[in-house]
Amino acid sequence: MLVAQLTDTHVVRPGSTYFGVDTAAYLRDAIDALHALDPAPDVVVVTGDLTNFGEPAEYERFAELMAASRVPYFVVPGNHDDRDAMRACLPPRTYGGSNDARVRFAIDEYDVRVIGLDANGARPWPGARLDDASLRWLDRTLALRDATPALVCVHQPPFRTGLHYLDAFGFGGARRLRALLAPRARHVRVISGHIHCVRVGDVGGARASTAPSTAPQVVPELFERRPFALRRERPGFATHAWDAARGFVTTVFRRADDGRYVPVAESAAAAENAPA
Ligand SMILES: [Fe+2]
Repeated sequence: MLVAQLTDTHVVRPGSTYFGVDTAAYLRDAIDALHALDPAPDVVVVTGDLTNFGEPAEYERFAELMAASRVPYFVVPGNHDDRDAMRACLPPRTYGGSNDARVRFAIDEYDVRVIGLDANGARPWPGARLDDASLRWLDRTLALRDATPALVCVHQPPFRTGLHYLDAFGFGGARRLRALLAPRARHVRVISGHIHCVRVGDVGGARASTAPSTAPQVVPELFERRPFALRRERPGFATHAWDAARGFVTTVFRRADDGRYVPVAESAAAAENAPA
């Protein structure tokens, strides 16, 4: 089973850009790159900030672009997204048909369960909070098939990333999330976006990671105390392979100068974050 993760696509209206970047063109390229993967992914998950302003016109464009994907895709909202506009414009199966106050779903048709969670408060507040209902739902949902591997997809990483100005907003409910995942850590992987760069962490013993945005990004320097020390990183995406013998293996892909997307080993991800 191979799951591709796109994140922070930040699609804007036709004719406009995201800080001068044509995010739609980069999303198109990332989808093409997924089609070139061998083996092909079984599923694509987009882990939030699908659009920049949460406007219907942006979702329509996002949906048009994603319609080119030959691989079925699922989405969880990020802090830039608007749940109602997202639900109105995207095919319901992409958010698991969830009509709950927060988007949440479990897709059970593959070897790995794909579980979507929504930890967003009032947009575009960047912090996160998993409310009581979401945590209880997650516990019940995992308990239904506790022995099946699960990929829990949530926009904000539920671990400290070292990006202090974002960590400072906190992740409400993280302690309960850790307690809930701890007995299942061997089977569960947590994947996020939000920080537009790659970090690997731990949630109750379950490995957790973030993926790069599909567009070029300016991110705070690693572990810098100065919040505004910035650098530019290459666009990219991640894949999460699973098999019974090895469990989950994550690979980060970055766009090279010639436009190809090349894999970067997870262990080398930090060193690879050289300025583009
Ligand atoms: Fe983002």
